[in-house]
Amino acid sequence: MSSAAERYAAVHDAALAAGRFADHRRRTDHWADLADQFRLDPHRPWDKNLHAIAGYLQPTDVLLDVGGGAGRVSLPLAGQVREVVLVEPSESMRGQFIASRDGAGITNARVSPDWWMESDETGDVAVTSDVVYFVRDIVPFLAKLHNSASRRVIICIWRPTPGDMDNELRRVLYDEQPTPWPGLPELAAVMWEMGLLPDLEVIPQPPWWIPEAAGGLSEIQAVELTMGRLEHDDEPTRALIESNFDRLFERRPDGLSPRWLSGAREVMITWETNGTRLD
Ligand SMILES: C[S@@+](CC[C@H](N)C(=O)[O-])C[C@H]1O[C@@H](n2cnc3c(N)ncnc32)[C@H](O)[C@@H]1O
Repeated sequence: MSSAAERYAAVHDAALAAGRFADHRRRTDHWADLADQFRLDPHRPWDKNLHAIAGYLQPTDVLLDVGGGAGRVSLPLAGQVREVVLVEPSESMRGQFIASRDGAGITNARVSPDWWMESDETGDVAVTSDVVYFVRDIVPFLAKLHNSASRRVIICIWRPTPGDMDNELRRVLYDEQPTPWPGLPELAAVMWEMGLLPDLEVIPQPPWWIPEAAGGLSEIQAVELTMGRLEHDDEPTRALIESNFDRLFERRPDGLSPRWLSGAREVMITWETNGTRLD
């Protein structure tokens, strides 16, 4: 019987073979086309996920944000800690982080350009949000998070994963079953195998990059959302959506709600390290 770590790698490899994401073992900038979308105002009102992370922070902490992108998660929290250290190998993401940080007048945040397994950075709390899907060799990655954080590790992922948000839509319309990204079931099994028993908190809010998931849509907005998610802009697709309308959308008093997105949740996986080491 294969180990959970082997199964995680197998799901990763199948997704890679199906062209579902870029191979992050290749040392190149995989995020050049998307980096600007990850730059959110550091002074925006906190969502539930930021509140949950902030609850674990202390004013003397170094907050290590591994694969921190444009600082979407850690820059809003810079005022809660002594320092934010972002570890981010994508040059485009680092550029967005620096512009966001400087534009917001944040002076206690810096960025290191390494891939995580080559990084020397440490902190009190290590957070990594929407990164582990792309990590094939997940055990050393998790162990290094544990060993680099004196107090706590926080991993945020989505269920379904960002790559799988449209799988139900595709199943309903095209009877497709896209090859899934490695997600919560695979990750939880690996952690169990490593002897980690983290707390899991399910955050009840829609995916930040698909605000329409919250519902309240008109019929026109509902069709536009669906065409956009399918990256199609043609009449046959529009007709297909309209003929499946009630399977795709729930009619609520405030408007239409996309059924295929209604179960999407961010999951925060966290544990205390207590200064212990994992091999
Ligand atoms: C989907 S983005 C998430 C960015 C940010 N954490 C956020 O939630 O807004 C994934 C990020 O993980 C980074 N990444 C992927 N593999 C990594 C690794 N092995 N070490 C460090 N960063 C990595 C990518 O460069 C990219 O910026």
